[in-house]
This record gives sequence, structure tokens and C-alpha cells, in this order.
Amino acid sequence: MKNKMLCLVTVLTIITACKDGEQTHVAANTGDPSAGKSIYEGAEITDEHDKEIDELIAKMTLEEKVGMLHGYSMFTNQGVERLGIPKVNMADGPLGIREELQRDSWAPKGVDTDFATYFPAGGGLSATWNPELAHTFGKSIGEEARARDKDILLAPAFNIIRTPLGGRTFEYMTEDPYLNKKLVVPYVVGVQENNVAACIKHYAANNQETNRGTVDVLMDERTLREIYLPAFQAAVTEGKAYSVMGAYNKFRGEYICENSYMLNDILRGEWDFRGFVISDWDAVHSTVKTLESGMDLEMGTNAPFDKFWLAQPLIDAVKAGKISEAEVDNHVKRILRVMYHLKAIDDKDRVKGSINTDAHFKDAYAIASESVILLKNTENLLPLKIDGLKSIAVIGANATKKNAQGGFGAGVKTKREVTPLDALKAKLPKSVTINYAKGYEEGFVPNPKSADQNYGRATIDTPNEKMIAEAVAAAMKSDVAIIFAGSNRDYESEASDRKDLHLPFGQEELIARVKAANPKTIIVMIAGAPFDLNKTEQNTSALVWSWYNGSEGGNALADVLLGNVNPSGKLPWTMPKKLSDSPAHATNSFPGGASVTYEEGVLVGYRWFDTKNITPLYPFGYGLSYTTFQMANAKTDKKSYSADETITLTLDLKNTGKTDGKEVVQVYSSKTNSKVERAAKELRSFKKVLTKAGGTEKVTLSIPVKELAYYDTAAKGWMVEPGNYTFKIGNSSRDIKQEVTLAIK
Ligand code: BGC
Repeated sequence: MKNKMLCLVTVLTIITACKDGEQTHVAANTGDPSAGKSIYEGAEITDEHDKEIDELIAKMTLEEKVGMLHGYSMFTNQGVERLGIPKVNMADGPLGIREELQRDSWAPKGVDTDFATYFPAGGGLSATWNPELAHTFGKSIGEEARARDKDILLAPAFNIIRTPLGGRTFEYMTEDPYLNKKLVVPYVVGVQENNVAACIKHYAANNQETNRGTVDVLMDERTLREIYLPAFQAAVTEGKAYSVMGAYNKFRGEYICENSYMLNDILRGEWDFRGFVISDWDAVHSTVKTLESGMDLEMGTNAPFDKFWLAQPLIDAVKAGKISEAEVDNHVKRILRVMYHLKAIDDKDRVKGSINTDAHFKDAYAIASESVILLKNTENLLPLKIDGLKSIAVIGANATKKNAQGGFGAGVKTKREVTPLDALKAKLPKSVTINYAKGYEEGFVPNPKSADQNYGRATIDTPNEKMIAEAVAAAMKSDVAIIFAGSNRDYESEASDRKDLHLPFGQEELIARVKAANPKTIIVMIAGAPFDLNKTEQNTSALVWSWYNGSEGGNALADVLLGNVNPSGKLPWTMPKKLSDSPAHATNSFPGGASVTYEEGVLVGYRWFDTKNITPLYPFGYGLSYTTFQMANAKTDKKSYSADETITLTLDLKNTGKTDGKEVVQVYSSKTNSKVERAAKELRSFKKVLTKAGGTEKVTLSIPVKELAYYDTAAKGWMVEPGNYTFKIGNSSRDIKQEVTLAIK
């Protein structure tokens, strides 16, 4: 076979392509992202109840059927009481089970039965790099959903972080598709173990809040398949997610909720999705086209509910012969199948769930304590030395800030949110005096152009001299100062992207002045997205990163500062030195206007930085520990593999310090002389490993060769290119400790 011709021979799901005597293996369209399945696998929705479902549908009037397909309150459809079909009960996610709202507005219902555990936001979960904790998260929040009688949890949210400015960066997971899928699958499985459906969101390409309701997202097919879809695909094919939320934006000219390519062809056709699609709130724009494109349940805000696209207009369309009743039945059936599967209809032994329990607070703590990242500790100010410590200055609004609620969008009403100051007070010996000063005011200028105060708000950045003076005084009279700086959920919010990366509220000035007053100053950032930390980083020897980290966030953070927990969090995205270094900005392709074209293609996040040799402030995967590690003796079990084999990579991880600690071994692949543009490094495997002080652990990683595939647009499939690959093994995308080269036949 010569050059451009591919000879495709299908062998089960593997297609073998021959080119110039070489063989290239293509996993069929269910492809690469489901290679290397995790140990977590969801239970498939079956046809078991189809007969009953068909009988029920036969008894339903057209009006009753239509009542199943649109919102009839903010978070339910109508159900059919007469036939014993309950409403589908939904709740936001992802931070916990949202409080109950009024039937037809975003105002709280004002009851006292809707408290819940506040779980760490997505950034915190992904910084753990720990799939087991993602499962814990899902299981725990799923139990809470059941206890509140929910059928659907509108979570997890995991769109790829394309720009550091993205308003929802704090609730999403990462810039990397592999890390994303490895966390999302166990999360979904955990939720669904509780007879609750996860609603994976926001499918798809909802990577910015600017113009999210109208923007037409354009990207090439390879980028879609390799970067933006893998976690959705894995959540469906492995996690067996029972529902999917259709995003607000358009994709290649069509709204996602009327995008047959995304819903019918990919989601159902290629991935065999058996659940139902719920629109994001007010993301539907038509009746017939929406249903025919594969969308099932229209949710929204703008009551009256009977005016929704899939309400009276649908009844009219059926009566006018514009859409068949059989098509309507189809969508009703999808919803009923899930409801039966969740035991929502026949609920004899349905999971009961539990909420606000100690066990759930413990889960939230476990996640938070593995998410805190030590960014710098050059003078070993951390962990705090308690012996002889008499006083400590605790400075910053974030020492006392609560983040369970705030900004636009879903929060949690919780009875428990431990702040850093609460935790330090409880954990420090009584002999230590805490000198607290707020240090800065979180001030905003309301946006005069919008009725919604959260859209495009500017911050007040003039340093507050009085507060700085108080902070300086507190620092001067204390042995050590800790500044709890950063952002908050009013500033990082759904529905608006940030304008830039500046550290708001005059905090840089505060940090510089406190540091001048007391050289032993530690900076703790509490935020969910990258900030410009250039000056702050220069100004300090100790820098820690924490998140909107749930009910136990303060306890987890204090335990890291005090050395009760050895930090093991790793950045789930790149912290750039400047915004213009980031791919979407370097290519001038954010935020677009009516449309946005993802010009950087597959080079998202560190893929861009590492390929273009741009040094970030902190790289993807980065995070220090109170101990030190060495990696040695990396080797693969063979030198050469075929496409359907799995590579076993082993190495020794030695803890060379005096403290037990967890390190994340990260494996990136690198392929030179590829026929397609490849990133310099692509994450292919990782493992978080606990190693005792002075001890060595043998680490084994299994990497299916199919993970190395790229998406071949012409062949519409995943190609494993033969040739040499180098595995770069380290503890961030930039700290590579070991290299192994192997061949793919
Ligand atoms: C958000 C979704 C959320 C829905 C319901 C939308 O604005 O994009 O994530 O689930 O509102 O609150």
C-alpha cells in the first residue's frame, strides 16, 4: 500500500491500517479514551422494565407525556401522579446538594431541612490527583442526594480549562483530558451507587462563560476528540452516566441542545449512551429540532413552564403533524428507563442515603487534605514550628471567609464550614497568641451595564491603608505571620469570566508591607483559578495554595500548615507567568464574538507551554512536600509492543526525607517524528503513592498502548502510530526525573 492509502481491516473493535509496510492500529470509534479502563465501572441501564414502560406510555395522554419532557418547577419535571410516575427530582452540584428553591424562581424556599455537606470544589478534588478520593466524593455526595430525595445530581462539572480566566475554573477539574477522565469516572460511579443519576456537565465545549448562551464554538475534530470529549466519553462508556447536561453554547453552528452530531451521532451512536439528556437551564431554542436532535428534558428558569419549547409548543407540533407522537414516546421512555433503574418508580429497596454525617465531613476532610499544594518553602518556614512559638499573626479576609455560597450559581447551605482562623484557634496550643487582622476589604464596583451584579464586576484594588497598618502591627508583634490571601466565590463565578489575572483588593501591597514588617511571612492563597503571583512569589519564601475546599477546608489547611498532614496536592492546570503565555490568549482566540475558534488546537494547557518552550510560573502537576523523593530504575517490561498490548512500567520511589509523604508519579509520552502535530508531552498515566520516610516503594503503572493513540480525522478513528516513544516520568510536566524509550510495532 502506498502513501496516503489506508487499508482498514476490522478485527473486533481494532482496525489495522497498513501504510508503507507499517501497521497502524486504530481503535474503532469507541476508541482510545476507553482504553485503559479504570477499576471503576458503572452499571448499565438495561431493558428490564421495557414492557412495563411501554404499557405506562400507552396509558399516558399526550399532555402527560409532554409533562415529562419539560421543567414544571425549577428542578423537577411534572411526573404523572395518576399513573404513579413521580417527578424527576434534580439538585445542583457540584459543591454539595443545593438548598431548596421556590418553585418558579431562584429564591430560596427558606426551609430548615436543606442543609448539606459542603464538598471541595472541582479544583480541589482534581488537585488530589487521587481517583480513589474522586470515588469517595461521588459516593458521599450521592448519599446526600438520596437523603434529600433527589434522583439526579447535576454534577460532576468538568469542562476542560482552556483559559485561566474561565469563571467556572474553580468548579471544573483540569486542563488535561487524561487526569479529567481518571477522576470523573470514579466520581460518577460513586454517585450512581446510591440510586442517584449523575448528570455530567456541560456537554460540550462550554469552556468560557463570556457569551456562553450564544457563542458558536469552532474547533477541529481531532481537538474535539483528544481534548474536549475524552472525559465525557469515559463517563458514559465506563462510568455509565445516566444523564448528560446539554450546554448553553453552539457547536459548529448549532446549539448543543439541537446538535444532532453531538447528541445523536456521538453520544448515543458512538458511545451507546442509554440515559437521557437534560438541557442546561434555558439552553433550549426550538421544539421539533431539539427533540429530533436527541435532547430529552428541557429545564429552565423563565416560567410559565407551559410555555417552554417542549411544553405547549410541543403539544401543538404533534397536533400539527410536525413531529410524531412516537418520537415523543421515545424521549419519555428514556426518562422512564432511568427512573426505573434508579428504583424511583418501584422504590421498595431504594437506597435511603444520609446527610450532614460525621462520615461525610470526614470524606470532605480527606479530599481537602490531599488537595492543598505547597508551592514554595525555600526557608523551611513550613511546617510551623510550634516549639517556642509565642504568637502568630493571622492576616487576610480569607482567614475567615466562607465560600459555600457566593457568586452566581449553585452553592450549598451548610451548617459546617470551618475557616482557617477557626481551625488554627482550635489546633494551636493555648499558649500561642493569635493576632488577627483582616488586611484587605473585598470591594466590588457594581457593573452599571448589567442588572446582575455578578456580570463583569470590577474589583476595588486601592489598598486600604488603615487595614494594612493593622496588619503590619499584628505582624510586627508576632513571631510568624500568615496571610490568607486570594479570591472568593463572588469574584470567581459562573456566568462571567475574569478580565485578567491580577490579584484583587490591593493584596499585593498588603503582602509586600507585611513581609517587610516580618520576614517570617507565609502566604496562603485561597482561590480556584490561576492568578498573577509573580510579585507575591518573589516576596515570599513560603507559598501554599488552597481551594474553596468544603466544610472541612480550614481544618485540612491548618493541618498542612502545622505539619499534621504532609502536603501532596498537585496543580491540575498551568499557572502562567502572564496571561498572554496561555494558549487561548497567545493565539488571540479568546473570547471570540459570535463565534470562537480554538486556534491552539490540541495544544491546551501544558501541552502548549511545553511544546513552545514557555516557562510557566508553576507547571501542571507541580506541588512540593515536606519530604523529598527520588525516582530511579524506571523500566518497561518489554522494549517493544503491539497496539493491543499493555505496557507495564516500574520504578522505585524513594522517600529521602524524614517525613512520610505521598508523591504523584506522572508519566508523559513524547513522540518525535510524528505525522501529526503532537504536544511535547502528554499525560498517559499517574499514581499517587505513600512512601514512609527513608523507605522505597516499587511503583507499577499499566499503560495500554491504545492510550498513545491520536485521533485520525480522515479514518475517523484512533491511530496508534508505530515507532519510538519516550516516556518522561516525573513529578510535574517540567520536572522529569526518568526517561524510558520503547517501540510500538
Ligand atoms: C448552570 C448549571 C446548573 C443549572 C441549574 C446553570 O446556570 O450552568 O451548571 O446546573 O444552572 O442551576
